[in-house]
Amino acid sequence: MLIKDIQNAEGKTVTIAGWVYNTRSSGKIRFILVRDGTGIVQCVFSQKDVSQQVFELADKLTQESSLYITGTVKKEDKAPGGFELVGQDIKLIQMTENYPISPKEHGTDFLMGHRHLWLRSRRQNAIIIIRSQLIKAMRDFFDNQGFILVDTPILTPAAVEGTTTLFEVEYFGEKTYLTQSGQLYNEPDAAAFNKVYCFGPTFRAEKSKTRRHLTEFWMIEPEVAFADLNDIIILAEDFISYIVERVLSKCQEQLKVIERDISKLEKITAPFPRITYTEAIEQLKKAGKPVKWGDDFGADEETVLSNLYEKPLVIHRYPAECKAFYMKRDQDDDKLALGADILAPEGYGEIVGGGQREDDLKTLEKRIQEYKLPKQAFEWYLDVRRYGTFPHSGFGLGVERTLAWICSLPHVRETIPYPRMLEKVYP
Ligand code: 4AD
Ligand code: MG
Repeated sequence: MLIKDIQNAEGKTVTIAGWVYNTRSSGKIRFILVRDGTGIVQCVFSQKDVSQQVFELADKLTQESSLYITGTVKKEDKAPGGFELVGQDIKLIQMTENYPISPKEHGTDFLMGHRHLWLRSRRQNAIIIIRSQLIKAMRDFFDNQGFILVDTPILTPAAVEGTTTLFEVEYFGEKTYLTQSGQLYNEPDAAAFNKVYCFGPTFRAEKSKTRRHLTEFWMIEPEVAFADLNDIIILAEDFISYIVERVLSKCQEQLKVIERDISKLEKITAPFPRITYTEAIEQLKKAGKPVKWGDDFGADEETVLSNLYEKPLVIHRYPAECKAFYMKRDQDDDKLALGADILAPEGYGEIVGGGQREDDLKTLEKRIQEYKLPKQAFEWYLDVRRYGTFPHSGFGLGVERTLAWICSLPHVRETIPYPRMLEKVYP
């Protein structure tokens, strides 16, 4: 039986299979905390109730030894989870020796180097379970609204988000790149299916070491035919409120394990505050930051801005030169891109980037030239503007940054089972 279901088996004799999480002894009693990945239960072995052989085994068990334990489920308010197993028998699979991660404190480098084992710990376990629920919520949101999941390729011929963070892959004598975003494919897909989304790993050769950057991260990206910037901002607001609410309702136990202050998450309801880039510059100046119109925002500026609000902050209409080649310009001011970023509260920075796409063939051809991109790699993409061009908009939300915020983690490295960062590809 799985440990998470033990509360439904009061009075029954059951067998659990798992690993020793911790042990403790008190006189003639041995307490074995066992985990199986679904929960932790305390198993109690009393010398007077079990055979000498079982008691001796219980006495010798080491951390992370694998075993089966048979016992009777008993309600016990003092036990973690409110139930314990009154142990009868132990069947040992392996007595583990020298498990590297002991309950004492370890440094981050050591833990990251043992990430494959660290995932067994309570806190890491809780974070990854929240990740799993978060991803399900993301998929459900779009599925429930009639979006079609259209997968986009990982090996691609062209850059989406700038040419400085491309991972090059030799492809039978040709140059290809690991995808930075599925957007360029989402756009033709929106013409084929109307409302689409893609979800998958994306790659950026980020050479900076920050607490927000991974070189491999997961992104969910919707693209909507006939939607404008305003429509897509509303979609993003509803989406973020939905996924936060889902985590709050499905992950109460995990949020407790990681000691998240959930009152902050309970405030995340749409709509969110919205300011223009130009207003953001004013707010930054007021806060004493040495910024001028035209500067792109770094982590510092984002933190100052997001700390002014309790909800995610929408910033729209950035200077076009800060943004990608595909962004449509504001018809009221050609210097501005019809794009929006959403900054998470509590200093977590940008979690969403998106906006309205340039839908005029000539303009887009000009931009590709201005951005010094190789036009022939984009011919297929330009077809979207050649054959029935249409207004369309979309965004991308990064799973790891969103999870770092939801879980209030100091660094994105704990939000993904096996993080990939500059100087980090092991294990
Ligand atoms: O703002 P970005 O670069 O937008 C795009 O890629 C668009 N093409 C998406 C679209 O419109 N379909 O990235 C979107 C999000 C960021 O807001 C952030 O959450 C995440 O992707 N992100 C990263 N997360 C972790 N590590 C990195 N290096 C990231 N770069 C972007
Ligand atoms: Mg961005």
